[in-house]
Amino acid sequence: MMSNKMASCWPSILVFNLLLLCSEENALGCPARCECTPQIRSVDCHRKRLSAIPDGIPSETKLLDLSKNRIRCLNPGEFLFFPRLEELDLSENVISVIEPGAFANLFWLQTLKLKGNQLKLIPAGVFNKLCNLTLLDISENKIVILLDFMFQDLQNLKSLEVGDNELLYISQKAFFGLVGLEQLTIEKCNLTTISTDSLSYLQGLEILKLCHLGISNLEDQNFRKLSSLKQLEIDSWTFLEDVCPTAFQGLNLTSLSITYTNLTSVPVAALKSLTYLEYLNLSYNPIRIIQRGSFRDLVRLRELHIVGAFLTVVELQAFYGLRQIRLLNVSNNLLSTLGENSFQSVNTLETLRVDANPLACDCRLLWILQRRKTLNFDGHQPVCASPVEIQGNALCDFPDSILFEYFTCQKPKIRDRKLQHIIAHEGQAVSFHCKADGEPVPLIVWVSPQRRMITSRSVGRSTVLPEGTLEIRYAQVQDSGTYICIATNAGGNDTYFATLTVKGDNSPYSNRTLYLSEYNETSHNDTHVFLKFTLDLKTILVSTAMGCITFLGVVLFCFLLLFVWSRGRGQHKNNFSVEYSFRKVDGPASAAGQGGARKFNMKMI
Ligand SMILES: *[C@@H]1O[C@H](CO)[C@@H](O)[C@H](O)[C@H]1NC(C)=O
Ligand SMILES: *[C@@H]1O[C@H](CO)[C@@H](O)[C@H](O)[C@H]1NC(C)=O
Ligand SMILES: *[C@@H]1O[C@H](CO)[C@@H](O)[C@H](O)[C@H]1NC(C)=O
Ligand SMILES: *[C@@H]1O[C@H](CO)[C@@H](O)[C@H](O)[C@H]1NC(C)=O
Ligand SMILES: *[C@@H]1O[C@H](CO)[C@@H](O)[C@H](O)[C@H]1NC(C)=O
Ligand SMILES: *[C@@H]1O[C@H](CO)[C@@H](O)[C@H](O)[C@H]1NC(C)=O
Ligand SMILES: *[C@@H]1O[C@H](CO)[C@@H](O)[C@H](O)[C@H]1NC(C)=O
Ligand SMILES: *[C@@H]1O[C@H](CO)[C@@H](O)[C@H](O)[C@H]1NC(C)=O
Ligand SMILES: *[C@@H]1O[C@H](CO)[C@@H](O)[C@H](O)[C@H]1NC(C)=O
Ligand SMILES: *[C@@H]1O[C@H](CO)[C@@H](O)[C@H](O)[C@H]1NC(C)=O
Repeated sequence: MMSNKMASCWPSILVFNLLLLCSEENALGCPARCECTPQIRSVDCHRKRLSAIPDGIPSETKLLDLSKNRIRCLNPGEFLFFPRLEELDLSENVISVIEPGAFANLFWLQTLKLKGNQLKLIPAGVFNKLCNLTLLDISENKIVILLDFMFQDLQNLKSLEVGDNELLYISQKAFFGLVGLEQLTIEKCNLTTISTDSLSYLQGLEILKLCHLGISNLEDQNFRKLSSLKQLEIDSWTFLEDVCPTAFQGLNLTSLSITYTNLTSVPVAALKSLTYLEYLNLSYNPIRIIQRGSFRDLVRLRELHIVGAFLTVVELQAFYGLRQIRLLNVSNNLLSTLGENSFQSVNTLETLRVDANPLACDCRLLWILQRRKTLNFDGHQPVCASPVEIQGNALCDFPDSILFEYFTCQKPKIRDRKLQHIIAHEGQAVSFHCKADGEPVPLIVWVSPQRRMITSRSVGRSTVLPEGTLEIRYAQVQDSGTYICIATNAGGNDTYFATLTVKGDNSPYSNRTLYLSEYNETSHNDTHVFLKFTLDLKTILVSTAMGCITFLGVVLFCFLLLFVWSRGRGQHKNNFSVEYSFRKVDGPASAAGQGGARKFNMKMI
């Protein structure tokens, strides 16, 4: 029954449709080689070898696709008879000239695509009166300059694509009038700066993507006026080596990517002001070390990606401040470990990628192991690279029963503990040995008699050599005292003492001048350490005695100097002042401040 009825209906429906088509075709027409869909008023002339706008386009057309043709030039009034156009696609032609007025009368136009043409210059006035335009794509042309006021009527433009041009210069008022612009992409241009002034008109901008640019540093307050900006992408700036501390000032970003640049450290100072940041991607930059407190102020950060960055060390407290971190992606680096003590709290962490790192499976990774059932590894299990017995095993494959056999650490133990006491002459080089065993390999630091930490990174006369030896070049009288070697690893610490006595030399001029010019007190700023050790009475006495000897030595030396000088010079001068600066323990000596330097004035005869 049913099918019968349907069958009888068919011919009439067909006839009706044909009639409809014919009538529409008659009223609207369709250009010879194009395909038209009258219902949506669309004319599709994609890839039809057209060298000009074809005849016969219905005047009611809303969507006109002329992409991939051979159009060379757009003359004034070219689209005058299609005032209803909403979307015009002219991409991938060979247009090299657009005359002002070419888009006249297109008051309803919302989308204009000019991507992939041969445009070198877009004259002012081309986009005039396109008040309803929301998307403009002029990427992949050969545009060298963006002129002042060229977009001035486009108040409703939301997205502007300027990628892959030969842009050398963006005129200061080029973006004037783009008050509604939400997204701007500039990529693969020869731009070497982005001026603050030209960006200052984009007060509604929310997303800014700047990719493949030759800019080498981010200037002071580069984006200052972009108060609505939420997302900033800086990608493939191979020359970028530095982000100025105030570069992001004025911004309130929630998402920031700085990837594939030449940055060698986390731009700590610049990130400081971005307290609303939720997403940060610093992948593929040559950042080797994440230093303590690098993300201190990013209290709302939820996602951090530092992938493929040659990371070797994530320092203690490196992720301090990240109280809401949910996702950490440090896959594909050179990390041997990732300690729980790098985090403020690992309890917020939901997803962790540490795969493709040479992980040492010892007690430092126990925290991951304990959470291996709840943490999401995004399908990429961390794998042990050492110790050898469990090399290649994924963390999650370990049954609970054998965990404490492998994931262990061995407290450091300093070898060869015989007391070292060295008596040296001023100007001599002195070294103390301190070797420690432990698993993982202990880190060795020394503490000076002034309680300054000396590490392998210390600059100045004292440094720690890779195998733990303390080296003091050009020993000075004030270097005398007790030095403490501390060997630490995740398992604990071990300490050891050594004493140094430096004797004031008979030939005080020997290497003293050399030392004075090389050793710069003001630039030598070691971290002060507050020791938790209880020093025994003997050590304290010895150190105190050393301190007195140091002071007396200097005074004696001054007198000696005076004596020698008075003998040599005779009675030409009778006023002489000697300066003796006390080394202050807390902070640099203020030159003018009292107590920083004390003067001894002496009158001679
Ligand atoms: C822009 O489009 C809206 C409708 O989307 C219309 O009301 C308005 O008149 C158009 N603007 C102009 C200048 O034609
Ligand atoms: C822009 O850079 C590209 C590649 O570096 C180069 O081929 C082109 O000539 C440059 N254009 C201008 C206008 O300098
Ligand atoms: C990146 O930095 C390294 C070292 O600072 C330098 O040798 C290299 O030339 C830089 N690369 C570029 C593209 O500037
Ligand atoms: C920064 O943006 C957040 C939301 O992303 C908003 O809650 C906050 O008020 C903004 N702060 C300022 C100073 O504009
Ligand atoms: C981080 O940036 C890199 C390089 O641009 C990109 O490949 C990666 O997808 C980004 N990560 C996420 C999670 O978007
Ligand atoms: C981690 O980074 C890699 C490389 O960018 C990416 O493919 C992967 O999706 C990221 N994982 C997560 C969970 O974001
Ligand atoms: C050394 O270990 C002890 C406990 O074993 C600890 O109290 C002390 O803080 C550690 N000292 C350092 C400098 O790590
Ligand atoms: C002074 O220092 C030089 C090297 O800087 C060294 O060769 C010389 O032996 C030193 N002189 C004395 C007296 O220590
Ligand atoms: C010490 O370093 C500071 C800054 O690093 C410099 O201004 C000063 O001239 C230097 N002093 C000497 C004696 O080299
Ligand atoms: C030395 O470091 C302290 C604390 O980090 C800092 O306050 C001080 O300004 C630094 N002094 C110099 C001369 O760099």
